[in-house]
Amino acid sequence: MHKDLDPGSATADDFRLEIAPQGWQLACRPDQTLLLAALAAGVRLPHSCRNGTCRACMSRLTQGRIRYRIEWPGLLAEEKAQGWILPCVAYACEGPLQLQAPQAQALAPREAPPGTLSPPAVDKSVHSTRMEDASD
Ligand code: FES
Repeated sequence: MHKDLDPGSATADDFRLEIAPQGWQLACRPDQTLLLAALAAGVRLPHSCRNGTCRACMSRLTQGRIRYRIEWPGLLAEEKAQGWILPCVAYACEGPLQLQAPQAQALAPREAPPGTLSPPAVDKSVHSTRMEDASD
């Protein structure tokens, strides 16, 4: 069963990314790593360094294509050939994409970044408050 996590913010340039086996669907901007796209949509993928060296985020891409923002991501040639990628330094370049990440977790709505799974209610009283002139 598929679940759209952030359908409202997707644009025509975005790539569709499915987190499997959960079936979570999210939008991934071309200038956003898969890890950041997932976090922005309220999905926590395993990660640590975010620079392609620790391999904590290592996951298998089973559909789509990615490119790397670094020249030598910390993967062996054999691992790359088997579809393993490092989402922290990977950008979508051909979709839709499917990432096998059984350890991914949906962030509780309270922990999700604003504007994603469950945006916090805006307190209009804060925005309508006028600044008093300090010279009075
Ligand atoms: S988080 Fe360290 S390699 Fe991706």
